[in-house]
Amino acid sequence: MTTEDRQPRGGLRVEGIEKSFGAVKVLHGVDAEVARGEIHALLGANGAGKSTLVKIVTGVIAPDAGAVEIDGARLDLSSSAKAREAGIAVVFQDPPLFPDLDVGENIFAGRYPKARLGLLDRKQSRERVRSVLARLGIDIDPRMLVKDLSVAEREFVAIARALEGESRVLILDEPTASLTPDEARRLFDVVRNYRDHGGAVMFISHRLDEVQALADRVTVLRDGRNVFTGLAREASREQIAEAMLGRKLGLEARGSGGGADRREPALSVRGLSLFRHFDEVSFDLYPGEIVVLAGLVGSGRTEVVETVLGLRTQDSGSVIVAGRELRRRGPRRMARLGVVLAPEDRDAQGLVAGFSGAENIGMAAPGASRWGFLLRRVERDIAQRQLNALAARPDAADVDVASLSGGTRQKVVLAKWLATHPKALLLDEPTHGVDVGTKAEIHAILKRLAREQRLAVLAVSSDIEEVVQLADRVLVMRRGRLAAELAGSEMTERAILAAASGAEDELTAPA
Ligand SMILES: Nc1ncnc2c1ncn2[C@@H]1O[C@H](COP(=O)(O)OP(=O)(O)OP(=O)(O)O)[C@@H](O)[C@H]1O
Ligand SMILES: [Mg+2]
Repeated sequence: MTTEDRQPRGGLRVEGIEKSFGAVKVLHGVDAEVARGEIHALLGANGAGKSTLVKIVTGVIAPDAGAVEIDGARLDLSSSAKAREAGIAVVFQDPPLFPDLDVGENIFAGRYPKARLGLLDRKQSRERVRSVLARLGIDIDPRMLVKDLSVAEREFVAIARALEGESRVLILDEPTASLTPDEARRLFDVVRNYRDHGGAVMFISHRLDEVQALADRVTVLRDGRNVFTGLAREASREQIAEAMLGRKLGLEARGSGGGADRREPALSVRGLSLFRHFDEVSFDLYPGEIVVLAGLVGSGRTEVVETVLGLRTQDSGSVIVAGRELRRRGPRRMARLGVVLAPEDRDAQGLVAGFSGAENIGMAAPGASRWGFLLRRVERDIAQRQLNALAARPDAADVDVASLSGGTRQKVVLAKWLATHPKALLLDEPTHGVDVGTKAEIHAILKRLAREQRLAVLAVSSDIEEVVQLADRVLVMRRGRLAAELAGSEMTERAILAAASGAEDELTAPA
């Protein structure tokens, strides 16, 4: 067989990749092929080895065995610079950006076009930055500092960085996790355009709906092994989920099924306003119910929960916990009163890399943080109990959180806040980056806590399927205001999206 027979269209070819971390083998001879002119989705549950494969293909970590070819030529895997020279562009799952540098500097990161005498040609660079951002349909000033950007904007900076310059292969590791449907659509247009110009695209996502909309073929990994490769349009969602999980995905019941206890709210918000972010927001959250704060990214949801917790100071309005109005708030005081927030950006705000799962959980748990040397055992016990309850990997308490997969990290974040035994749990995008199986597990846990322990849950979610699965009641925000409240049979995807985008009138208008 000649090379031509094997690779009629060229592209990326991954063969027999093996990788162990210490004694744990995570990739067992993985093969994958992404042709030019193809969008190929790489799927698998949390921890299946997708990001590890991406890091190997891009020269970030070395494989124990196996080879990678581009257009039939073997790739030198010894450095990420080599991979880039060979034409591989990548957006990592947690793109390393420099918070104190501006957007342009991040996009060029060490590859700034140099003018004569080796000086940075700032004007030329800014033009190139503007043009790549414009291609993405994104309006960000190249001079803004990355630390001042939203999570979604940062994602676009990472994408712009990958697309700047020449490449033949584009790898996107969960690029849409924090994008609005509209932003995701814009990204998909860019990705399709890249494919239609002969590029090879490897695309990783946990959102099976977008995979089916975008991908030509899919490859599924389970525990570091190939279990399925086929045409995207011929594989059903159920088939893909089953290949990923190695079992059928059960049907989730909607809502917590507990019934709220309406005698006294766990948390009340009255006329809360924060200039430029949200205005006159009022709601009650009762023990035993799950309320989802829905809306488009940028509608003010994150700012509302951050203000409730005291991470931001409102301009007017009040927050009442167990009958007391709390003027001065902050995460510690609120935690003592039983109100905690698991933030959206789990890596920057939720977990500290370099520490184990137990240490991270111990940072928030009362009782574990005072007793000197006794601490470690108490801490570990508390952590282990919480992680067991969440069905997390058995060793998650003991290893550095930086070495855990995205879904397991999310469980550690949840365990950390549940260990404080809150009365009200606020969650910002609780299943961001989590696979379909783990997502169902997390939903089940939250529902059980609401039902059995009367936990009050307020979750911000942009995942419309999640909204309808999880919520007993939905509050929809639009442009900083509460636009609708829906419950029971009113909570349809259509009605929520309509309220979020302000299109209710069209929806209810007679045909
Ligand atoms: N540096 C490391 N040291 C030790 N173990 C690691 C390291 N990096 C990854 N792992 C382990 O390798 C396995 C595969 O992780 P990987 O991040 O590739 O999964 P993934 O498929 O990308 O999952 P997710 O969907 O959650 O992002 C996991 O069990 C993870 O904990
Ligand atoms: Mg990953």
